[in-house]
Amino acid sequence: MLLPLLLPLALASLTTTSPAPLAPKTVHPFNWASTKHLIAFGDSYTFVQGTTGHPNYSFIGDNLAPAFTPQQLLSNRIVQNLTGTAEGGPNWIELLTNCGAREGLTSPLRCARQLWDFAYAGANTLEDASFTPLHHAHTVSLTAQIAQFKSYGDPALTQSGVIRQGKKGSDVLVALWIGINDINDLASLRGRNATFAPLYERVQSRQFELVEQLYDLGYRHFLFLNLPPLDRGPSPNVNASMVSTFNDILKEHADEWQAQHMDASVLLFDVNTVLNGVLDEYEKYGFTNVTGYCAAYNQPDIRTDPGKYGCKPLREYFWYNSGHLTSRTHEIFTASLLEFLKGRSRA
Ligand SMILES: *[C@@H]1O[C@H](CO)[C@@H](O)[C@H](O)[C@H]1NC(C)=O
Ligand SMILES: *[C@@H]1O[C@H](CO)[C@@H](O)[C@H](O)[C@H]1NC(C)=O
Ligand SMILES: *[C@@H]1O[C@H](CO)[C@@H](O)[C@H](O)[C@H]1NC(C)=O
Ligand SMILES: *[C@@H]1O[C@H](CO)[C@@H](O)[C@H](O)[C@H]1NC(C)=O
Ligand SMILES: *[C@@H]1O[C@H](CO)[C@@H](O)[C@H](O)[C@H]1NC(C)=O
Repeated sequence: MLLPLLLPLALASLTTTSPAPLAPKTVHPFNWASTKHLIAFGDSYTFVQGTTGHPNYSFIGDNLAPAFTPQQLLSNRIVQNLTGTAEGGPNWIELLTNCGAREGLTSPLRCARQLWDFAYAGANTLEDASFTPLHHAHTVSLTAQIAQFKSYGDPALTQSGVIRQGKKGSDVLVALWIGINDINDLASLRGRNATFAPLYERVQSRQFELVEQLYDLGYRHFLFLNLPPLDRGPSPNVNASMVSTFNDILKEHADEWQAQHMDASVLLFDVNTVLNGVLDEYEKYGFTNVTGYCAAYNQPDIRTDPGKYGCKPLREYFWYNSGHLTSRTHEIFTASLLEFLKGRSRA
């Protein structure tokens, strides 16, 4: 899809009431080959460990200490080791950018595609104790991630010249993957009898308010991933119809927001369908276990001696633990995502 049709255009001109955004000088259609920076938000599926991050939770800062200087951001390093992600190895955003995927420490500044990752493990979309309470006082919700980015991340990247204001519409892809904690927490907190669609509506309304704020900063290209098949997890909290309802509501909001922002690109990757397909034909991908996980997944020597714990090599498991995919699973869907991004690229 290139551009939505005429009706959304007419609607957009009638409904645009917000102040004129800080437009980038050049807005180009999305193009993966010319994308030089990825800015990421989300939860543990997207979090990468930083040397100045909260251990096991973030690249930089937390909710109790959200501030950082440009110097602190630009000298921070991505940590790649067993605990550098929530997957026991490189995750999708590191593999997609090839930034921080290699064992050890990586400065994003040295990557051909720089990864600036503000995702926080355990994040929900809203920070609202009566809706989805913070997992910890230090948890940075998606709402707080965007506030942190507006106050510190965007100024640091822009004022240092790492990202030029005039290039935000051409060189930068903003990735948001959120909802895994939301759907699980809402299921636990509200009970099985709750009416979930209005709750999922509230989550997506907020997500796209936040996207609007990023648009107002000048960013134009946005990647979204829908929920993976959580209903096929080792101990699912949700069923397939809840996951598809959540994903349908995400798609409605994404389509609507795209129709209202003709100079922006909304790229919605259907990771749910990709991963359901992998589960259906798991042997083809070298998996031998797609229902359970290795209970010793976090033992320091699990990657070299899984047999000691009665486990197969981690690459043979689809699930890393009760709530996360393995690094191998991330590798598989990232290959599809890369094809998707190339297919959606325009010169
Ligand atoms: C990963 O690296 C970080 C930072 O160097 C370190 O604190 C952590 O203990 C390491 N984790 C493992 C499992 O080696
Ligand atoms: C899934 O769970 C929802 C919420 O509890 C329930 O209303 C629905 O009937 C369930 N669907 C299936 C197919 O089990
Ligand atoms: C859900 O609804 C059923 C049928 O009305 C009822 O028996 C059950 O107690 C309810 N469960 C909860 C957790 O409210
Ligand atoms: C998958 O791994 C779990 C945990 O070790 C184990 O209980 C289960 O039997 C395994 N399933 C298969 C098909 O090997
Ligand atoms: C990080 O997670 C690992 C694996 O679960 C755990 O062993 C370690 O203690 C955690 N580190 C901190 C600082 O909590």
